[in-house]
Amino acid sequence: MNILLFGAGAREHVILAKLHESKLLSRLFLANPGDGFKRLGEIIEFIDYYDLGKKCVERKIELVIIGPEEPLAEGIVDVLNSFGIKTIGANKHFSKLESSKIFAKQFMQKYNIPTSPFEIIESYQDIETKFIEFVDKYKEKKIVLKADGLCKGKGVFICDDIKFAKDKLKKLLDGEFDKASKKVIVEKYQEGEEISLICLFDGKILLPFLPSRDYKRAYDGNIGPNTGGMGAYCPLKLSNDVKKQISQYLIKLQNALINEKANFSGFIYSGLIITKEGLKVLEYNMRPGDPEIQALLTALKSDFLNILYKASEKRLDEVNLNWENNSSYCLVVASEGYPQNPKFGDEIVNLDKLKQKYPDVCVYYANVLKKDKKIYSNGGRVLSLCSHNAYILYKFAEELDFKNKFYRKDLFGLKSF
Ligand code: GLY
Repeated sequence: MNILLFGAGAREHVILAKLHESKLLSRLFLANPGDGFKRLGEIIEFIDYYDLGKKCVERKIELVIIGPEEPLAEGIVDVLNSFGIKTIGANKHFSKLESSKIFAKQFMQKYNIPTSPFEIIESYQDIETKFIEFVDKYKEKKIVLKADGLCKGKGVFICDDIKFAKDKLKKLLDGEFDKASKKVIVEKYQEGEEISLICLFDGKILLPFLPSRDYKRAYDGNIGPNTGGMGAYCPLKLSNDVKKQISQYLIKLQNALINEKANFSGFIYSGLIITKEGLKVLEYNMRPGDPEIQALLTALKSDFLNILYKASEKRLDEVNLNWENNSSYCLVVASEGYPQNPKFGDEIVNLDKLKQKYPDVCVYYANVLKKDKKIYSNGGRVLSLCSHNAYILYKFAEELDFKNKFYRKDLFGLKSF
């Protein structure tokens, strides 16, 4: 089978590695790949998604797997499907579950899916009226602001005081993230255990992967700004009660998607929190979470390409997922300054040596540049290190020689490194 994989991050690199393990793979094409892994497939350059569709037809590509959220929100799936090409990814309408926080909240309200109370803020006047009323009503010490649109994982703010929240709201409405923050959601802060629940959907069936967890805050002790994720692991030890709540939620979500005639094959990621009042949905992403998917695919024994192909054929009822018995971990090595202003351009000196020394660690490239047989950091999250052994991951990260390397040293319940 000829496959096209779209996307540049460590998420796409781990997907690529799993596709290469499959006997079903004939030729692997790459669109917009990352520099770290672009030599592992045949690159397709394209002008727009119509051009990409034509090139897929010429190369007899049967399935396109789209990793990132932006092309989904721009409607890549709708265009490729119009060429008769099968896809893994939400169509433009349903990608709004991620690309509009307001759309997602309204979807949850319509189907009685538990979520945190919220208010929509669209103007300075709303700040003085709706926002103040909201704060008075819930009397929380912390308040959450979420830009409505896509902000590369940087549009969520947990505010400890009202003045900061008001100032931040003004900055957002003034266009801190251009159009993406012209509308903002104010949400009641929720306390509890967070769970990432990544599912595949085929228009009829929602197939859950193992529940996993990422670490969103940048710094040790769960402080600092929100990031895309500094690490992840699976599976989670969950009580029977929580498992039951998740099962009930999945039935609700599946019914809601079917009722909305969601006729796409792709991922839907539910960011869940288990509060004193029970399970609530914090957010949806219409793609596999990064770095959760790195940990999950380290644990997956089944043929991933076969699973994706069955999803694209609306045959998820034929799929059983087989997982390794032991835990899987992903540690993100980022560059100093991430997420606001990451440094870049540092040579990662001893990567090959470490790969030989620690053969059980898989290295996936997020933001790197390869030049003259050398490798350099090139952005916020640089590498994803994956293994079944969290201790070895930390040894690898510790010994990694690059100047502005930065990673959380307190993950996976280990003592600080
Ligand atoms: N780790 C969550 C995300 O992919 O945004």
